[in-house]
Order: sequence, then C-alpha cells, then structure tokens
Amino acid sequence: MASKTIEELPGVGPATADKLHEAGYNDLMAIAVASPQMLAEAAELGQSSAQKIILAARHEADIGGFETGDAILEKRKKIGRITTGSKALNELLGGGFETQAITELYGEFGSGKTQIAHQLAVNVTMPKDQGGLDGDTLWIDSENTFRPSRIGQMVTALELDPETVLKRVHVARAYNSHHQMLLVDKAMEEAEKFPIKLLVVDSMTAHFRAEYIGRGALAERQQLLNKHMHALLRFGDIYDAAICATNQVQAKPDAFFGDPTRPIGGHIVGHTATFRIYLRKSKGGKRIARLTDSPNLPEGEAVFMVTEGGIGD
Ligand code: GTP
Ligand code: MG
Repeated sequence: MASKTIEELPGVGPATADKLHEAGYNDLMAIAVASPQMLAEAAELGQSSAQKIILAARHEADIGGFETGDAILEKRKKIGRITTGSKALNELLGGGFETQAITELYGEFGSGKTQIAHQLAVNVTMPKDQGGLDGDTLWIDSENTFRPSRIGQMVTALELDPETVLKRVHVARAYNSHHQMLLVDKAMEEAEKFPIKLLVVDSMTAHFRAEYIGRGALAERQQLLNKHMHALLRFGDIYDAAICATNQVQAKPDAFFGDPTRPIGGHIVGHTATFRIYLRKSKGGKRIARLTDSPNLPEGEAVFMVTEGGIGD
C-alpha cells in the first residue's frame, strides 16, 4: 500500500492539500482514481495542474492495471469467511460472510438485519477454526440501533468474554449521508490501527432515502450512493474485510408484480453489492433468507432463528 501522504505529491501545497482534504481526497488512491475535472473543481486548480497531480498519485499509489488470472486466484485464496451462527445461512453463503465483498441485507423492519450484524461483530473476533477471523469490527450506525447489551447476550451464549469482545467493536454514529461517507475515510484510519475484518453499515441507505426526496433528487442520490458503495468496496479490498450493509425495502407502487417489496437504491445498489440477501419473518421467531444475487453461488433460501442467544438454526 502507498505510504506517502497527499501533501508529498508534487504540486500540492498546504492550501491545495487543505482543499483536497475538505473535499474528501484524503489519500493517494482517492486522487489517483479521480478525474481531472473533479479534482480541479475540488482544489480550485487548473485542469492541467490537476492532471499532473493525478498522474503523480497514480505513480505513487501503485493502482496497477490488468492482473493475470493466477494473480487474482492468489488474492481470492486469501478471502476469509465469517460464520453467521446459522449453518443453513452459512451454507447459503458458501461458508459465511466473505471478505473483499459487500453483502447487502435487505428486508422489512424486524426481519433481522441488525441482529445478523451484531452476531457477525461477535463472531469475527473468534479464531479462524471457529468461524471467525480474529478481527475487529467498525460499525457505522445511522439509525442508533447498535446495542452493547445485545452483543453481551450473544457473547454469553458463546461463552466468550464480553469486555474483550466489546473492546473490538468500534462504533460511530452517522448523522447524515455526507457524514456517513466521511466515516468511510475515517474507517481507513482506524484500520491502520486495529485489525479490522468487518465493516457494518446499518443502515447504508436510510439517510440517502430521507435526504434526497422526489424525482429531482434521484440522480444525485444515486450518484452519491454509488460513490459510497465503491468506497466501501475499496475498504474491503484494501483491508481484506467483509462489508455488511443493510437496506430497507419500499412498497412497490404496483403490487401487481407479485413481491410487494423491493430494496431501496435501485440498480446502483443492486449491481454494486456483491451478495444480496432478502430477509423475511416467518412463524415462531423463524426468519427466511433468500440469496437473490451472487457472482458464483446458486440462488436459494435458508431458514434461521433469532433467539436470545443470537442467530442460530
Ligand atoms: P429495521 O432496522 O427496523 O429495518 O429492522 P431489522 O431488520 O434491523 O430488525 P432487527 O434485526 O433489529 O430485528 C429485530 C427482531 O429481532 C425483533 O423483532 C425480535 O424478533 C428479534 N430479537 C431481537 N432481540 C432479541 C432477543 O433478545 N431475543 C429474541 N428471541 N429475539 C430478539
Ligand atoms: Mg435494523
């Protein structure tokens, strides 16, 4: 990974560096993949100066280009999986929540999205042979639904130490969509200090949905969501971490098409998430998970339970 800071790039003086940071360009990679127009606007530079800075960042950041299939195979061998606590759900996911990927949980209120996220934050601390990755969690909480007490219940059920596990969950409230996006940059800083193997974004879409209302705001909302999700994916790639992102559903305007619900965020979210899981409630505390999108796994369903001890079969 690149070690230089943006201040060290030729052509970036203190004033320019400030403007770049303000606009969210905090590391070389962010600059390396920017377009000259975007960067020129953000730092109030001419396009040719912006272009020079971008080229220097590309050189330093080692963003690479094409990779051969065997190199990609090597990288994919490193992919870790976090157990969900349910055998059936793990099987549906090919072993658990994968690192270097976004797994999106969507479904109506109470369908278990936040519960699964809590369970993953506990399970990721376990050693590899027990389904964990011996890692910490970063939790971006937009709905104020993270509960240490719930972690405590799950930890007790697994006979782990509550204090040790809670120390390994790093939580930040996101107060609006802009703040939520900034927190992904912060996440990079945290990941330099702690062995982060899971990033939870609960909810990924709620702020965007609440702030960008109506047809006129749709394009901007989608563009920002797209940017946000790519930042999340990049985090997962760089730190070999799993991304667990939750999403609500909205009633379809026309119930004629069968399934009365669909996830927020349309094609942008759908295409950027690596795995999509639709959750719904069933009788007696049961939940049904349906894998609706995956690059390499068959579609299917799994039944799991939410109990006091957490997620199980
Ligand atoms: P929204 O965020 O509102 O969209 O819903 P969600 O999908 O995040 O729901 P969440 O994961 O918070 O699920 C809440 C449900 O989990 C509750 O309605 C309960 O059914 C179940 N649950 C939560 N805590 C416990 C518990 O301690 N014991 C049991 N048995 N069930 C619990
Ligand atoms: Mg929730």
